[in-house]
Amino acid sequence: MIPEPNFPVKPDEFVGRRPQVEAFRQALRQGMATGRTPSFAVLGEWGIGKSSLLSKCSAVCEEPEFDMLPVPFSVSNELGDYRRFAELLVNTFDGCLAHAQSIQARVRGEAQNWKLKSVNVGPVALQRQTPKLFLTSGTAILRHAVQDAWRRFIQPAQLNGIVFFLDDLDNLATPSQDAIALALRDQFQSFGIENINCSICFSAPANYFSNIRSLAEPAVRFYDKVYLGPFSLPETMEYIEAIFEKVTNRAEFAQWLHSKTGGHPYFMAFICRQYAQLTYGDDKLDATEHWHEIFHRLEKEKFSADLAQVTEREVHLLRALARCEEQEINRKEFADYARIYFTRLTDKGLLTRTGRGHYRLYHPLFREFLRQTK
Ligand SMILES: Nc1ncnc2c1ncn2[C@@H]1O[C@H](COP(=O)(O)OP(=O)(O)O)[C@@H](O)[C@H]1O
Ligand SMILES: [Mg+2]
Repeated sequence: MIPEPNFPVKPDEFVGRRPQVEAFRQALRQGMATGRTPSFAVLGEWGIGKSSLLSKCSAVCEEPEFDMLPVPFSVSNELGDYRRFAELLVNTFDGCLAHAQSIQARVRGEAQNWKLKSVNVGPVALQRQTPKLFLTSGTAILRHAVQDAWRRFIQPAQLNGIVFFLDDLDNLATPSQDAIALALRDQFQSFGIENINCSICFSAPANYFSNIRSLAEPAVRFYDKVYLGPFSLPETMEYIEAIFEKVTNRAEFAQWLHSKTGGHPYFMAFICRQYAQLTYGDDKLDATEHWHEIFHRLEKEKFSADLAQVTEREVHLLRALARCEEQEINRKEFADYARIYFTRLTDKGLLTRTGRGHYRLYHPLFREFLRQTK
């Protein structure tokens, strides 16, 4: 495997996370028995492996045991409101329907009475034109598309269900995250009631639900929650084995890497990519030999970009926090800085809130960087 820190890992190179993937399989099994699959929220900080897990689960849907249609969708923050979101999601859904093997086979069989060209356009898109006038909101668009596709494609092709994978759902915040969370929950709950096995699995930052007010509590309850943390030591070992097949001191290197990165997948992928390039063909890895160079690269590619998105005053605060003896700090000790600074840095992913009024920098290597530079 070649580590690619800037892309979700390919499902066949996916490492570890066995309990999480197994929980997902279990949910699919339950859905096949009851006709409705539980929906999932995958929560975790930046770079921890949310997108990778979603992409793995989407591959799981296609396993013969389940035979479900996955619809992967990346929620960008330029989407705008729920209606626009629904339209784009339905487009993606169309594409997935048109490419699904079992549906293609079915449509080919019906070619005489159903024009084949509709497959190119996307099956739902074509049929959607007539009632379009009546579809005034995103909810109605999505509902119509799913009901229609269920009846005309999913059931005839004997697929067991549909799972929408919405990556980075927090990007959708118009009119508000609460409203979006409630709308989605209502939407997918109603499919369950209509015996349409269609669920969602979304990803968002770890604090997504704690930011949602009690108003949206039903939305919080609706999901099975998967909190993703860093890789354990055995997972780190498995990761190193997949990358450095021929290296003899892998266990030792995995130990070192785990202590440097705390098992954070992004940093592990970044560091291993560099080591793989610098030590190509070596049968032993010397962790310290290239560390200086790799850390420098990390500064250039990651940490400078982190600092580029904050104000000068925020940089001051970050440096002050890095200088503290303790990694976890109490906001009260930094009374010069209003609470809003902490909130903003948390929203930007540079601080992690560990408890009431308590924070730490998002990663020890970022802390090391702040301490070394000025
Ligand atoms: N299960 C995994 N197996 C192998 N590599 C992983 C795994 N999870 C994450 N990674 C690595 O970490 C990087 C960051 O993961 P990603 O899924 O993009 O995180 P997030 O979506 O939470 O920001 C990926 O580019 C990949 O290289
Ligand atoms: Mg992601």
